Amino acid sequence: MNLILLGGPGAGKGTQAKLIVSKYNIPQISTGDMLREAVAKQTELGKKAKEYMDRGELVPDEVVIGIVKERLAQPDCEKGFILDGFPRTLKQAEALDKILEELGKKIDAVINIAVPEDEIVKRIVNRRTCKKCGAVYHLIYNPPKEPGKCDKCGGELYQRDDDKEETVKERIRVYKAQTEPLIDYYSKKGLVYNVDGTKSIEGVFEEIKKILDKFA
Ligand code: AP5
Ligand code: MG
Ligand code: ZN
Repeated sequence: MNLILLGGPGAGKGTQAKLIVSKYNIPQISTGDMLREAVAKQTELGKKAKEYMDRGELVPDEVVIGIVKERLAQPDCEKGFILDGFPRTLKQAEALDKILEELGKKIDAVINIAVPEDEIVKRIVNRRTCKKCGAVYHLIYNPPKEPGKCDKCGGELYQRDDDKEETVKERIRVYKAQTEPLIDYYSKKGLVYNVDGTKSIEGVFEEIKKILDKFA
């Protein structure tokens, strides 16, 4: 089962991707997580990406396309994969088509998680992420059992550098200008399934399961 999760910042892509990973046992490929890892390790890629990320802008297409191409060729993607946060531009979507063609694969479904803008901001400013395992929490909707500490691994919870309100506004603007057109791109291919992202985390996952059970 080869999936794309579409949706604005804070729509719940990462949260749902992790639930899909545990139920369907296919890997999550989050370009945002991969870039943050490179930033934390201070690799050349990380240093370059950080400037864009801190401004709420997209990292250049060539950079992310290269990362995803390499990742999709790994053996654990044989049984399927969940793309989270990629593609984000028309150029990336076209590059993905080419990569998949070369690998003899195709996308089964594009899940579009829709959440209105005011809710996005509320979600993002209260998000906390585990430094060690990447688990995602929300101070109100999904709080950790012990403040500041990850339930799963005990790691320290932190706020992402790009989760400040001004940067979130810019990320929403970038999403509308560059990523939203992909809904149309994939609708024309008959691949889009819309999900109401304002429901609870479990409620959204119920909707997604109904869609995915057709492909699993
Ligand atoms: P990325 O990390 O992909 O950020 P994003 O797309 O803005 O999405 P988020 O990770 O912020 O949100 P999410 O949808 O995963 O929501 P989550 O599940 O965490 O990208 C960051 C940056 O990297 C970009 O700005 C760009 O610079 C660069 N980048 C990445 N990919 C790129 C690409 N392909 N091309 C170029 N540049 C790229 O949930 C959010 C919060 O809400 C959490 O606290 C969660 O607990 C809570 N929550 C989730 N679901 C619910 C619910 N149903 N009800 C209540 N609360 C909920
Ligand atoms: Mg995410
Ligand atoms: Zn953790």
